[in-house]
Amino acid sequence: MKSFDIKTKIYFGDNSMDRLRDTPYKRIMIVTDKFIAESDLLKIVTDPLAQSGKEYKIFSDVVPDPPVEKIVGGVKAVLEYAPDCLVAVGGGSAIDSAKAIREFAERMTSQKMGLIAIPTTSGTGSEVTAFSVITDSVHHIKYPLVSDSLLPDEAILDEALVMSVPQNVTADTGMDVLTHAIEAYTSINNNEFSAALAEKSVEICGAFLLRAYLDGHDAHARRKMHVASCLAGLAFNSASLGLNHGMAHQLGANFHIPHGRANAMLLPHIIEYNSGINIHSRSQKEYPKQVEKYVSLARLLGLQNFNTITTVRALVNWVQFMDKEMNIPLSISQLGTVSGKDYFSKIPEMAEAALKDACTATNPKVPSYDDVVKIYQDLW
Ligand SMILES: NC(=O)c1ccc[n+]([C@@H]2O[C@H](COP(=O)([O-])OP(=O)(O)OC[C@H]3O[C@@H](n4cnc5c(N)ncnc54)[C@H](O)[C@@H]3O)[C@@H](O)[C@H]2O)c1
Ligand SMILES: [Fe+2]
Repeated sequence: MKSFDIKTKIYFGDNSMDRLRDTPYKRIMIVTDKFIAESDLLKIVTDPLAQSGKEYKIFSDVVPDPPVEKIVGGVKAVLEYAPDCLVAVGGGSAIDSAKAIREFAERMTSQKMGLIAIPTTSGTGSEVTAFSVITDSVHHIKYPLVSDSLLPDEAILDEALVMSVPQNVTADTGMDVLTHAIEAYTSINNNEFSAALAEKSVEICGAFLLRAYLDGHDAHARRKMHVASCLAGLAFNSASLGLNHGMAHQLGANFHIPHGRANAMLLPHIIEYNSGINIHSRSQKEYPKQVEKYVSLARLLGLQNFNTITTVRALVNWVQFMDKEMNIPLSISQLGTVSGKDYFSKIPEMAEAALKDACTATNPKVPSYDDVVKIYQDLW
């Protein structure tokens, strides 16, 4: 038996931030990072709270790839302030932190708290997912916590919050959206509902990601990508992800490669691996199911080509083209921040962890240890 539901109420479009004025919550803890707390962005959130007489306090100790210690700090702050709602303002790191903080604070106090997620990147879709990715910084492992109790109650999508996203973050987070949609679509848990959401998200990425990258002031492209991010979040919340994310998590935990960038670099390799199609392939009578799915997505992107092999190749080429156009390196060596010695010495450990990562379980092809090692090696 399968089921599909959307617990998070999504506010979007013009004046969506007015929701904060009307919310029944009275005492609010804002969970965000230092950059956002010190920028003008936060006023977009605090103005409607102040106008409607809500009490609020700002917790701004969120850092990228949130580690366990920072979550503990957040739980302490919540226990002291005793809010009736958390409002997460930021990228995936702030939203994931708020989810974990609420979860642990609720368990300790037996008091229910609301959670409103307001994304400031168009990337993780964390505002609508039951995932929170927390890092064990001692053992260099990223743990995706998965529980419906992590789902935010409400999400507010306002593109005014993403207009200031720098080009490199637009590129990385945009490729994260694309990876979510593609992995959800090819996941073994893919279903008609998640597929519809993933298809729309891929279509929007094809039309608007490069536009948003080339001109960050293009409000229409920003709004579309903000919606695409949420659609992809809904898709993978239902269908889950795959090996791309399982492997990317290890690159983030060990080398602090931004999450979306790690996904973007891996994506051409994963499509080749999952499809079994590379530059040497010749046409076959039958292909595995995921190959047809890659072909469908390539068609949606207008990449339809001569036959199955050339169409999947076109998809791989298009992903590489997007990476190049947006200055995302195609290999770890091109990245220039990781030494070959450090990278290769970590591969066995990363491969073990990638196989155990919760995302890998729904990959369309079951990877072996040697498969994962080879993909990490090829990525160098
Ligand atoms: N929960 C999920 O379902 C899920 C899915 C994918 C990834 N993740 C996790 O989310 C995290 C990555 O999130 P992210 O990619 O959104 O990045 P992030 O939250 O780490 O933010 C990246 C950088 O962008 C800055 N930033 C954010 N918004 C900005 C704005 N409007 N203007 C200027 N700068 C801005 C931040 O200050 C930060 O320096 C990782 O920890 C990843 O593992 C979670
Ligand atoms: Fe992701």
